[in-house]
Amino acid sequence: MASKADKRGPTYSQLEAGAERSRPVMHQNAREIQAYGKIAKLPIALDEKVCASSAENLNQLLADTITLRDLYKKHHWQVAGHTFYQLHLLFDKHHDEQAELVDTIAERIQSLGAISLAMAADVAETTIIPRPPRGREEVPAQISRLLEAHEILLKEARTMARLAAEAGDDGTNDLLVSDVIRTNELQVWFLAEHVVDVPAVRVEGAKAASSGD
Ligand SMILES: [Fe+2]
Repeated sequence: MASKADKRGPTYSQLEAGAERSRPVMHQNAREIQAYGKIAKLPIALDEKVCASSAENLNQLLADTITLRDLYKKHHWQVAGHTFYQLHLLFDKHHDEQAELVDTIAERIQSLGAISLAMAADVAETTIIPRPPRGREEVPAQISRLLEAHEILLKEARTMARLAAEAGDDGTNDLLVSDVIRTNELQVWFLAEHVVDVPAVRVEGAKAASSGD
């Protein structure tokens, strides 16, 4: 038989207790479960030393790729002049392709049992791409800066690809060659053609069009 209290419904303290498990648990802190630079070996049939060495190289490449990605967004926003529209779109396309590379490189590092860099402060401390000014630059300076960043990336990616192949890390070698090197080379072509000094309207040395004489 129901008591008087049951008919009145649950008390406030009973309601409180009933919601206890649905409440978000805030301000939790704990030690890291894996320190940066350490390998949590996965069963991928690769020696731990090979994983550590590939991961170290890939983290350098990751920091530089994140920097190049951000450089593209900076230029996408700050571009000026008569080529504004086409460069605004091109810089964003290249940004998105670099963002995909960032994810591919970072996930390769994790697949090797290592930890990928992620935060801007760590990236800034690691990258070897020169820091651009906060202010706005002219288009040729923007493009030069991007081309130089691509070349730094390509140089290190080729060395890293050779090292990975020699160590038997085919997965890393394939990522470096098929994704990083090919994407960067193609982007260099699209950029470099913008700083070839060709006339926009009249071919050089051409005689003026005859005006009827
Ligand atoms: Fe945009």
